[in-house]
Amino acid sequence: YESKAGVKGLVDTGILKIPKIFIHSSENLPKKADRNGKRLKIPVIDLEGVHDDRRKTIVREVQIASETWGFFEMVNHGIPVSLLDEMIEGVKRFHEQPTDEKKMIYASNYSTKVGFQSNEDRYGDNPLYWRDTLYFNFREKPQDAEEVPSVCREVMVEYTRRILELKDTLSSLLSEALGLSRDYLSRIECIKNGSLSGNYYPACPEPDLTLGTIKHTDPDFLTILLQDCIDGLQVHHQNQWVDVPPRQGTLVANIGDLLQLITNDKFKSVEHRVLAGHIGPRISVATFFFPRALESRFGPIKEVLSDDNPPKYRETTVTEYITIFKSNGSDAKSTLPHFK
Ligand code: SIN
Ligand code: FE2
Repeated sequence: YESKAGVKGLVDTGILKIPKIFIHSSENLPKKADRNGKRLKIPVIDLEGVHDDRRKTIVREVQIASETWGFFEMVNHGIPVSLLDEMIEGVKRFHEQPTDEKKMIYASNYSTKVGFQSNEDRYGDNPLYWRDTLYFNFREKPQDAEEVPSVCREVMVEYTRRILELKDTLSSLLSEALGLSRDYLSRIECIKNGSLSGNYYPACPEPDLTLGTIKHTDPDFLTILLQDCIDGLQVHHQNQWVDVPPRQGTLVANIGDLLQLITNDKFKSVEHRVLAGHIGPRISVATFFFPRALESRFGPIKEVLSDDNPPKYRETTVTEYITIFKSNGSDAKSTLPHFK
């Protein structure tokens, strides 16, 4: 398997069986019952009126969702549906170019600003994922995008610009949902910079043997996710795997490990995974938010602590946390720096 050609390159050779290196252990693979985990539904939050009459209600909904599911779907988020559709098309165009075009920006780790990735920077010895990724570490400046391939540059810049605006809205909502002033999270600059992954999950000939993404929690503060119309994403809630069915025009937000840490477990970073499927490709765009300075120290916010709620974690930096994350496979949350 040549990772520079990506999983798509492999599928294009016409394989009917997947290489062994993609086969995951049965404990991580979906059981029959979790292929239709449709009884529970993640919370849907309508952001219409967020700056006026409905704000109180929305803050309350964000609070409940962040404390229980760690995930919520957003409608009327202000980003035009046409832009979301164009973004999905742009990511698809990138991945469906000739392999040589993608190889030119192949990056074996995420050190460059923009790169094509497939299974190179994996954690530990886990089997490979059934997906390829185009990433763009745009930080606060989506407009500095010369390195983004021209097939999708324009739409990437516009999408990231709008996602940053939505992130600012979420930042104020999450602050208020914690009982803090509206600008609290913005002032501590914990969700300042963004990095985007444009994922491509090719159709898979043996989807019950592999995974698009193994179960994991996100090692960031906040993630905003766009998915196309293909199923696959599941969230672990109340001991079951619940589908996050794609709905055109919606975006999903989820709490990352480090937001759980600074809220001293008030907000939950919840496990999720992506199943492989016979039908594909599936496209998703995940935008991860981090502090401006990866060396800044973050610990439980003083204002949420009390005698009854002492700090559960010691301070850490993103760099330190990601190092731990990478050395512990994808099961990072168990390594949040607990006291004791
Ligand atoms: C991820 O959580 O890493 C990807 C989610 C998705 O593709 O829907
Ligand atoms: Fe994730």
